[in-house]
Parts: sequence; C-alpha cells; structure tokens
Amino acid sequence: MDKYVIKGGNRLTGEVNISGAKNAAVAIIPAVILADAPCRLENLPDISDVKTLLYIMDSMGARVDYLDRHTVEIDPRPVSTDTVDADVARRIRASYYFLGALLGRYHKAAVPLPGGCNFGVRPIDQHLKGFAALGCDYSLDNGMIAVTAQEELHGANIYLDVVTVGATMNIILAAVKARGLTVIENAAREPHIVDLANFLNTMGADIRGAGTDTIKIHGVQKLRGCTYSIIPDQIEAGTYMVAAAATGGDVTVRNVTPKHLESISAKLEEMGVTVEEGDDTVRVVCDKPLRKCNVKTQPHPGFPTDMQPQITALLAIARGTSMVNESVWEGNRFKYVGELRRMGAQITVDGKVAIVEGVDHLKGAPVRALDLRAGAAMVIAGLVAEGTTQVEDVKYIERGYENIVEKLVQLGADIYRRQDLSEEAPENVG
Ligand code: EPU
Repeated sequence: MDKYVIKGGNRLTGEVNISGAKNAAVAIIPAVILADAPCRLENLPDISDVKTLLYIMDSMGARVDYLDRHTVEIDPRPVSTDTVDADVARRIRASYYFLGALLGRYHKAAVPLPGGCNFGVRPIDQHLKGFAALGCDYSLDNGMIAVTAQEELHGANIYLDVVTVGATMNIILAAVKARGLTVIENAAREPHIVDLANFLNTMGADIRGAGTDTIKIHGVQKLRGCTYSIIPDQIEAGTYMVAAAATGGDVTVRNVTPKHLESISAKLEEMGVTVEEGDDTVRVVCDKPLRKCNVKTQPHPGFPTDMQPQITALLAIARGTSMVNESVWEGNRFKYVGELRRMGAQITVDGKVAIVEGVDHLKGAPVRALDLRAGAAMVIAGLVAEGTTQVEDVKYIERGYENIVEKLVQLGADIYRRQDLSEEAPENVG
C-alpha cells in the first residue's frame, strides 16, 4: 500500500495548473468509438482512470497513440467487438459509457456491471430505461449487462426520474446516431455533459441544450474524426482552492473555467476566504480565521458532491458548528468522517447530514483514502494538521488527481509518496 507522508503546517502559496477534467475524459474516450476516423484528444489528464479506459480501447482493437503526455490519437476503425472485457472494465465505473457508445455503433453492447468508488448503491436503472426507450432490450448474465436493439435505434422522449450524470451522457451516446429526435428531460447539467456534447458536435452530431435540463439530439448517420481539447477539471480546481484556504494560503489556480467554480467560490467566501476570478484563473487568499457555514450537495449548478469530503475537512477547522447535507448520493458518502475523527475532528453523522464542530487544530495520524474524494480530504487535513499524517491507499487518489504530490510540493507543502516495498518483495526468501 503506497502512501503519502505529509508534515502539516506549511502555508500553500504560488500557482498551480489544473489538468483536464476526469469526468469529461472518461465519457469522451469511449465516445471515440462512434467516429469513422481517428480523433485527437488534447488536455487529457494523466491519471489512472484515463489509462484504464485507453487500455480498454486498445484491448477492443482501437489504435491508441500517445503524441505527448496529455494528447492521444485514437483510431476507432479497427474496433471489432461489441463486448468489453470484464476483468479491467469492472474496476472503473465509467466503463458503462461503452454501453452507449457501442450501441451507437453496433446496436448492441455487453459491458460488465460497473464498479468504481464505493460509497453506496450506485444503480443504473435510468441508463437502462433510456436504452429501452430507444428500442433496446437488456439482460444481466454472469455480471455482464447485455443491451441489444433488434433494428436501428430510434429517437424517443426520455424523462429521467433522478438527475443523473451517467444516464444523461449514456443516453446521448446511444442516441447520437439513432433515427430521429431524442429529447432528454430532467437532464443533468454538469460541465462535463456540455463537454461531451461539444465533442460529439465537433464530430458532426446535432445535440442542442446541453447544460440545460432539456437536451435535444437529432440523430445523424455519420460522425467524423476531430481534434478536441478537454475542459479543465472543476473538482481538481476546487480541491486546490480548499487546500489553499485550509492552510491560510495564497494560491492562484490556473487553467480553470471560473464559472464552473462559482458554487465552491461562494462557500469559501461565506467562510471568510477571498476569491478573485480572472479569465481562466481563480486566486484564493485566506488571511482570517475560517467561519462556519452550511453546505448542501446538489446537481450542477449546486455545490458538487465530489467536493463534499474536501469542504467537510475545511469546516472541521472553522469556527463554529457547520452542517453538511449530502443530497446526491444515497448510502454513505460520509464514511471518511471516521478517518477525520482519528485526526481530532469533531464530526457526527446522522444519515445524510454531518454536523461539524470546528476545532482549533487537527493532529497528524495514519489514515486511509477510502475513495478518490475522501482521499483528497485526507490530504487537505494532513496539510493543516500538527505533526505527520500518513495517507494510505493512495491508488484511489491517483485515479483522479494528476501529479498531486508534485503540485502540492510546488505550492510549498511538505509531502512525499512512499512506495510500499513489501508489495514488491518475493514471497519466499531464503
Ligand atoms: N442514480 C439512479 N439511477 C441511475 C443513475 C443514478 O438512481 O440509473 C442516482 C445515483 O444513485 C445517485 C444520483 O442518481 O444518487 C446521481 O448519480 P449519477 O448518475 O449522477 O452519478 P454517476 O454518473 O455514477 C458521476 C461521477 C461521480 C459524481 C456523480 C454526481 C463519473 C465517472 N462519476 O457519477 O464522480 O459523484 O456523477 O455528480 O462521471 C468522482 O469523480 O469522485 C465521482 C464519484
């Protein structure tokens, strides 16, 4: 188990560059399957989730060429299967986007039931409802979901019962080459949905209304290759904004879309932090004690659930009692609170609500990254804690944060990655 070792107490200062958006990239990579020529993707984040998806593309026959660390050319023409191999795909939730993409190309698809970060029940009933409306049947066999259309997919009106990012994107992927008009009502509005639609439109699709709750997709017959640059990662940016605030720092977060960060900036300002927006930067300055505030996660443009653990870590050292309400995910996206408590945080959880009593100091401790964003919260807590914090299971963090250690060191943090050599050691020595 590789870990991060963090000596807390350093103020973060300087500039940090934000990478491309994970949750856009993980839909756009499978979407390339719909093209009839190579696509060049720029500003891809160098993270393990992207590598896993590129590996899956390669294993399906696509030609994947890295032009540099953040630019990949993918030729989908040699893809020769409508099935995604179970072993790798199970590890990554976003592999469910292959369902929509393969349906668009072959009118049938088989993909393993998705895994991903484990914070409760993560159903895909709305994806399947959408596919059914487009003319598909589905079945579950041996852990694989198979979706098949007897003939060409056809447009339909689809009302989503819950606002879901995954179902909105998957239905777009399946409908983009379907016959006629598809209308998705109560669609999710996240920036990565707009990015997927922009990518597909650059390939020749006809998608309108992405970013609103009604998306209209006129099916087209062909999608061509294109060059496309992925938007900056909203959550990575938000994570550095919170880290800057937690350490009483002064950090300019570069290569961002400030509009995507408004809900995060608003909460930081409520806590007494100064946030200055530039064209593609936000500067976060914290020179006063942090004040309590209440946070409720909501679909975009509300406060993102993927920032909930990080803001809770920040509220743990703010003056007063704050309330954090998780309204996007059922189940337990507060499991990490137990780890924060090990560091001296005073937080109680009652169902979907965490009550956070601010404390003066956190204390370094060995803690675990229970999932990607929970791991980011542990890093933030470690940066402000007295003494040394060891964050274990950093593989979760590295699913979604490019070079987090290097970026934090550049801002003045005392953090390094310690490889667990015991994992490499031979089992029988002597
Ligand atoms: N839901 C259903 N039925 C469905 C789909 C979703 O009831 O068919 C429910 C979920 O149980 C949840 C809510 O709808 O309560 C929202 O789920 P959504 O489908 O929006 O989540 P997702 O697409 O599986 C993506 C991100 C998550 C992020 C959520 C919410 C990716 C790969 N993942 O997941 O990101 O939390 O949207 O914004 O895009 C992360 O990056 O750390 C992460 C977990």
